[in-house]
Amino acid sequence: MNYTTRARIQPLAIAILILGIADVHAQDFAPLPKTAALPGDTNEKIELGKKLFFDPRLSSTGTVSCNSCHNVMEGGDDGRATSMGVDGLTGPRNAPTVWNSAFQASQFWDGRAATLEEQAKGPMVADVEMGMLAHDQVIGRIKDIPAYIQEFQAVYGDDSDVTIENAVDAIAAFERVLITPDAPLDRYLARQKDAMSSAQIRGMELFESTGCTECHSGPALNGWRPDSEAEFAPFPRIPDSDYVTQYELTADLGRSNASGDSADDHHFKTPTLRNITLTAPYFHNGRVNSLAEACRVMAATQLDVELTDAEVADLTAFMESLEGEFPELIFPRLPSRSGESVIRAPAEKRQREES
Ligand code: HEC
Ligand code: HEC
Repeated sequence: MNYTTRARIQPLAIAILILGIADVHAQDFAPLPKTAALPGDTNEKIELGKKLFFDPRLSSTGTVSCNSCHNVMEGGDDGRATSMGVDGLTGPRNAPTVWNSAFQASQFWDGRAATLEEQAKGPMVADVEMGMLAHDQVIGRIKDIPAYIQEFQAVYGDDSDVTIENAVDAIAAFERVLITPDAPLDRYLARQKDAMSSAQIRGMELFESTGCTECHSGPALNGWRPDSEAEFAPFPRIPDSDYVTQYELTADLGRSNASGDSADDHHFKTPTLRNITLTAPYFHNGRVNSLAEACRVMAATQLDVELTDAEVADLTAFMESLEGEFPELIFPRLPSRSGESVIRAPAEKRQREES
């Protein structure tokens, strides 16, 4: 054997010796971290954040909470193509899941918020979501409920006021609890070989060999790694695919709405595929109703690949292996203002129409 052949064979042989099968896939995938908590995420803060997340009184009509569109009793979304907020108004985009949203480098389809805290300020004052006029009005509502003031003080100090910064800090702490580790893929990567079925393993290998992992890699299958920068992918990358017109995939400019840079036209954040079986319909416009069709669309629009039905079945089987263990959540008991409602919707609505 001459030197050059040996040089080629040796690293391969060493790689095979050192790496088990699971480690080969571990280059593309990683187990979901079992915690996303930051220092300061105390139980009291998380409980306060949970209350605010579930409280519909933070909306103008008193009917819409974060949980209305991000139902954590299920997939963390609303199952609708696009969400419905106060007064039956609908927005332009599909609600992403809040499960595992801690594991991404930016929030929203176009990444316009860098953090969960910044993100949580948006919906309260979006007129098609919670419809409040301004954050001051949200804070006024919270302060109308005396027990909330005490809870804010218990978490943020006796001298602290109820502020929007503290409110979103608490909500984000709660969202960091919304993680779903120990999916079959995680157990498989931890060398529990029977954690995934043979169809799921075939699907995983196809997912890698087709090129899906170019974007959907890492613990949340969205390209995120701890401390990674926000990245956006072109979608659709193959603009003449028939699916593009069928599902109106170019109506929304995506990232450039947020960055103002036309080079970002039709770029979107790669979404997590964790629990993707639970969050139909799919894509930023919610136009694709089934996961099988979403896989066909992705293969065609991102990789110029036409999948067979058997391949689609294996890919969707793989995605079932991304359903994790959901933490036990106990319904919060929301504080009330004794003997009085804090919702004065008709007057507030008039005020909104006048402003
Ligand atoms: C009326 C429905 C609605 C309500 C109410 C709502 N959201 Fe959302 N949420 C959405 C939609 C739609 C998006 C995506 C919007 C976009 O990308 O432009 C979104 C995006 C998000 C994201 C980003 C997830 C990701 O993967 O990028 C998080 C986190 C989130 N919402 C949390 C919250 C919190 C916290 C509240 C309450 C303060 C809330 N939402 C209220 C519909 C809603
Ligand atoms: C070039 C990057 C890239 C590649 C390659 C890619 N994706 Fe995606 N994927 C994305 C982006 C970006 C989105 C969000 C599209 C949007 O705006 O709706 C997405 C969305 C999805 C969704 C829908 C998620 C949701 O919450 O609605 C699924 C399912 C999916 N991809 C699976 C796949 C599969 C399977 C493959 C391989 C056949 C693949 N992707 C290849 C970037 C990519």
